[in-house]
Amino acid sequence: MSKEVNKLWDNLIPVLHEYKNIWSMETIYEYPNHLQHIPEKLFDEIIPLTTEEIFSTLRQDNLGSQSTCSGNLVRLLREITSLSKIQKSDFSLNILQSRYMTPKKKYEVEKVIQVLLSEHRQIKINKITDCCGGAGYLANSLANILDAKVLSIDNDSKIQENGLARFLKHGNCNISFLNHDLNFIKEEVYNQIKESDLIIGIHTCSHLSDLQLQIAVETDARLILNVGCCYYKTKGYKYGISQQAKLSNIELSGPSLLLAARGIETDLDSFIFSINVKKYRYLLHIYLKEVLGLEFIAVGGLKPKEYEKSFEDYAISRLDTLGIKGEDHRKDLIDFHNNKKKQEMVKEMIAVNAIRSIFSRAVELYIALDRGLYLKEAGYDSNVFECFDPKISPRNICIMGRR
Ligand SMILES: C[S@@+](CC[C@H](N)C(=O)[O-])C[C@H]1O[C@@H](n2cnc3c(N)ncnc32)[C@H](O)[C@@H]1O
Repeated sequence: MSKEVNKLWDNLIPVLHEYKNIWSMETIYEYPNHLQHIPEKLFDEIIPLTTEEIFSTLRQDNLGSQSTCSGNLVRLLREITSLSKIQKSDFSLNILQSRYMTPKKKYEVEKVIQVLLSEHRQIKINKITDCCGGAGYLANSLANILDAKVLSIDNDSKIQENGLARFLKHGNCNISFLNHDLNFIKEEVYNQIKESDLIIGIHTCSHLSDLQLQIAVETDARLILNVGCCYYKTKGYKYGISQQAKLSNIELSGPSLLLAARGIETDLDSFIFSINVKKYRYLLHIYLKEVLGLEFIAVGGLKPKEYEKSFEDYAISRLDTLGIKGEDHRKDLIDFHNNKKKQEMVKEMIAVNAIRSIFSRAVELYIALDRGLYLKEAGYDSNVFECFDPKISPRNICIMGRR
């Protein structure tokens, strides 16, 4: 039995309001005022912890009934963000059905089909539109397994051509690809979509999920399924398509959208790596601000190997990309790195960032529940649940509407 969307919403909104100043900020932008909104008791608990201890605190591995400030907060957020999961199933794609798919893609397609098969028993799904369908793996599997006609829409013609070449080679004439931008649906495309029983979108980035749901409601689809991702991708987009969200007075800042799409690392190695990245990133930022008088500037994403370098070599290459002769700063960078006070500052920022990350799932759930509520307000029986194991596919919140 799945949890009710309204109930989840009612539990979530007060907590988001209470801690808004924490989840909506970005540690690095706040520096040197990064501690201003962090409850002292919470900070005092996190600051002495080792990286491994922070990891297990965030995951709440060993908290049991331990009543610490961080333990209580993690537990509360776990409770209010806990969703029902789909049942275990033996359904799997065979070798032919899953050819060309990565293990992750195969897993995702299997889970989505498992959900749809139980719906298919009640609603005969004859026609499907897959929004942002990419290379068409899901579309092809849906066409074969549900014996339905599937229209896969995507605006990337290269990806579609690759898919088309693969799937047509194996002769499924129930699938068609349409190169089209979901932002600007032409009338003839709209009319084609209108015939669909099911409108689906898996990992439709940022606002495209909202768009998919709006199109599905307008075209009166009987069944709607969506899994979102990359919430930060559409710059300046304001989330909140439901009436309830409009009344909730919650605004998602840019940093909070990144937080929602980041989740909490599920394995210790990736967590340690992310902390090492932050140690360098934060120290460089303090250097840019204090020594060069520069406000926060993005220094670009780097390959993991770059963080194996010494701090000064890392920082010199970043300064070079900013048009500052890095080599001239070598000695100062070494001194900066060895300065105990600066190291302490970085440690503080890491603790603040860890506290922020406790809220990542809550912010993500806000986006998903808003979508669930939107479907409800449009007269659908709507449901929000976990469709993938987060270790395999972390953006795993599925919104389903049926009528
Ligand atoms: C994360 S991928 C997901 C692909 C596929 N649904 C899957 O699960 O493998 C997002 C897809 O959205 C497509 N896309 C991005 N913007 C789009 C737009 N404005 N209209 C249509 N498709 C778009 C991209 O080309 C990409 O294939």
